[in-house]
Amino acid sequence: MTVSIEQQGEIAVVTVDNPPVNALSQALRQGLLDAAERLDADPSVKAVVLACAGRTFIAGADVGEFGKPPQPPHLPDLVARVERAAKPWVAAIHGSALGGGFEVALGCRFRVAVPSANVGLPEVRLGIVPGAGGTVRLPRLAGVETAVDMVTTGAPLGALKAREAGLIDAVIDGDLIAGAVQFSRKALGRPLPDSLRDRPVAAPAEPFWEATEKTVAARAKREEAPMKALACVRRAAETDFETAIAFERETFLALRGSPQAAALRHVFFAERAATRPPELAGVQPRAIKSTAVIGGGTMGAGIAAALRDAGLPVVLIERDDAQVERGLANLRSIFDGAAKRGRISAVVAAERMAGVTGTADYAALADVDLVIEAVFEDLDVKRDVVGRLSAVCRDDAVLATNTSYLDPERIAEGIGNPGRFLGLHFFSPAHVMKLLEIVPTQATTPEVLATGFALARTLNKVPVRAGISDGFIGNRILKVTRAQAERLLLSGGTPTAVDAAMRAFGLPMGPFEAQDLGGLDIAAFQRKAARARGDTPFAPIADRLCAIERFGQKSGGGWYDYEPGERTPRPSETVAAIIAEEAAGFPHRDWDESSIAECILWPMANEGARILGDGTALRASDIDLVKIHGYGFPLWRGGPMHYAEASGLDKVVDALRALATAGLADPPCELLLEAARRGSFSGVFR
Ligand code: 3HC
Ligand code: NAI
Repeated sequence: MTVSIEQQGEIAVVTVDNPPVNALSQALRQGLLDAAERLDADPSVKAVVLACAGRTFIAGADVGEFGKPPQPPHLPDLVARVERAAKPWVAAIHGSALGGGFEVALGCRFRVAVPSANVGLPEVRLGIVPGAGGTVRLPRLAGVETAVDMVTTGAPLGALKAREAGLIDAVIDGDLIAGAVQFSRKALGRPLPDSLRDRPVAAPAEPFWEATEKTVAARAKREEAPMKALACVRRAAETDFETAIAFERETFLALRGSPQAAALRHVFFAERAATRPPELAGVQPRAIKSTAVIGGGTMGAGIAAALRDAGLPVVLIERDDAQVERGLANLRSIFDGAAKRGRISAVVAAERMAGVTGTADYAALADVDLVIEAVFEDLDVKRDVVGRLSAVCRDDAVLATNTSYLDPERIAEGIGNPGRFLGLHFFSPAHVMKLLEIVPTQATTPEVLATGFALARTLNKVPVRAGISDGFIGNRILKVTRAQAERLLLSGGTPTAVDAAMRAFGLPMGPFEAQDLGGLDIAAFQRKAARARGDTPFAPIADRLCAIERFGQKSGGGWYDYEPGERTPRPSETVAAIIAEEAAGFPHRDWDESSIAECILWPMANEGARILGDGTALRASDIDLVKIHGYGFPLWRGGPMHYAEASGLDKVVDALRALATAGLADPPCELLLEAARRGSFSGVFR
């Protein structure tokens, strides 16, 4: 870390260099404080430009320090020191000025930025509120409405929008430092504006707060930070500066140690660890400029939409002309739906479709860079398709399968140049869900694997590397979840109670509602295949429902009954009777919400430990990302592995042993026991 000072006439340029993102570590805070003292004492300096080396302006407080006690100098004191400097400071922003970085910029008298820069207060995304005056200075600069919007969503603003909103004084084209120095010289010739602490803030009337509280609460659901951030802005509007600063700091410090903040920090670092596998450092991915998708059903259309959303042209292949038309219609309905909901304009929707070529002729694939197959989940069909791809595509084209359960090694058997083949497992709806499981075969080359990760970045997805096993990471845990849900029914639970308990835990849907929505037939098909291989999947009740064609909403009933044309689940007498028959002889118990949740969650962590043990996942945190970004596990719970760890692995082990004794779960596996001995998954597997 360095803070260097260079003088250009009467303007001093302070340059921060703390790679990778100039985060405000203790050493950097001290370095900046020293610079402020020194520059105030130097009579030859009339103004100060604060700039950063590397890819970005200061990206915020050092998140890595959050688990430890705060060390002086504290950030609020640094911002206050810059604000009351004897000479005006000008923040010269490139990249991102986020969180504490933007708060330092708010302490400066002026802010200038290159057009590509962005500024924001994303703290709520880490389960906290700004802790260095952001909620107090921002409304004084840009008004309460803008401040509320920015601090409760955490969304950054691009430089041009920030200029319009008054957050930035000038947008500088060309050399940022030269422009900032020039801006400072001009500013010295004019009366200085008040620093933000001395500016007034217009307090909105009660109805504004009432309406805003409702909106923010509805958006935040169970996340604590957005409502607290709103309370901070309100305090800033309704009390004096110092009182509001003290309230914000107190709120920040309280949230910093909260379970939600710990979970969200865990996810922050998990996402970064998953994105850059160390073994691929320095490996160059292949350029992907053109793509194709085989199969225009549920997944193929979603994958094609995701590719088009990222600006890539797509060839969509189907079995025959009629199926091509159906596939294109599926895709069109995705874009039209986005346009109807106002996500994109009708013009953009049309552009997205214009970049799709639908055909049944594989010759159209002769020159594409990447092909993803999403045809029926049938080994013979997939092998036939992949064989045709390997014959028709360029030798360096990357070929991928979206299979859910089949073995990619078997799908690729016999193809020419197998090093270019891998699994790219998207989640439904593929243009929405952020997870991409990346599944290399033995033969997949590092370059092709790196291309999978690069593709995830292009598509704005979270990549997780998964090994080959039945269901990879996510669906393997899903099977356990479903089996546990059935065990709950056999021992006195009801679908309604189980679903309600899991919603209360924070899932968007309970396991039975989710099955009814997705259809019970897919899992039944998969169980049939597993039984043919000699496995013994546990689904006594689901098997009986499928036998009477209760496949879920699409067949008018599954775990619940549905009125024609309705999606509201209603308890089903038929299902209750089947449960009663299957449960005969099984010991019943009284389940409450928390014991139901534990009966599902601890076995998930146990399966996660097995998944780590056999190398299907590289890190416990990867499993968390899979469940969060592929299955709606609440982000603020940090994923099943983090949640188990945060709850105490000893407690999890004891609970699993008790469930196992009652025949309600598998006993804890050896690797979970080992993690419990250490108190953490880290070090054991990661
Ligand atoms: N603290 C510590 N490390 C950080 C960090 C931070 N605030 N922000 C990023 N990093 C690290 C990442 O962990 C990663 O490390 P690695 O290379 O070892 O994996 C490295 O910097 C690069 O990060 P990205 O991969 O995310 O780089 P990108 O170029 O894709 O994105 C970015 C850059 C937009 C700045 C992005 O990193 C980001 O959004 N960072 C977080 C910003 C943030 O949340 N700031 C607020 C912090 S809370 C705060 O300031 C509280 C205050 O109010 C008191
Ligand atoms: P689907 O049945 O909706 O679509 C499959 C499509 O493939 C059909 O349109 C069919 O006409 C087409 N097709 C079949 N054979 C073909 C061939 N030889 N050439 C060209 N097109 C052909 O199935 P869905 O749900 O889209 O699944 C596709 C794949 O994605 C499967 O492997 C499935 O396991 C996997 N998957 C499914 C998920 C889901 O939630 N539905 C989630 C993740 C993966």
